[in-house]
Amino acid sequence: MREVRLSVNGRSVAAAVEPRTTLADFVRERALLTGTHLGCEHGVCGACTVLLDGVAVRSCLLLAVQAEGSEVTTVEALAAGGELHPLQDALHRHHGLQCGFCTAGILMSLAELWPRRGEVTREEIMDCLGGHLCRCTGYVGIVRAVEDAFGLGAAGAAG
Ligand code: FES
Ligand code: FES
Repeated sequence: MREVRLSVNGRSVAAAVEPRTTLADFVRERALLTGTHLGCEHGVCGACTVLLDGVAVRSCLLLAVQAEGSEVTTVEALAAGGELHPLQDALHRHHGLQCGFCTAGILMSLAELWPRRGEVTREEIMDCLGGHLCRCTGYVGIVRAVEDAFGLGAAGAAG
């Protein structure tokens, strides 16, 4: 067992874990934050995406010991003060989710780009979405929501 201490959504979480414990399992089972979903568990679906020191990563592909001392941000941190994050609000308004299994991962990948809204290009955003599998929506509502939240017109105002 190895002692691992992370900051998860600003809260220090420490636990003794097996060296093979993934960051996804640490977040779900030790930090008790189950908004991060596990689908494929081998880096394909994107459902497990979290921010690691501000960078979107697939938490099924990282070991908790590799994240030692880092700041992890999960979907639970997006809404603040009882208000949905603008990305969450846009997905809600544009029917960008059905079962919601993929949604947390999509939100966290978009959250990496969010600080650069106004500069980020349509290509960057579509490339980001391309790393996420959604079996329900056909992506139309997701794309509309992202265009709205990032202020991209249908013609792609920012690129
Ligand atoms: S569960 Fe990690 S990418 Fe699918
Ligand atoms: S909303 Fe069901 S997988 Fe995306």
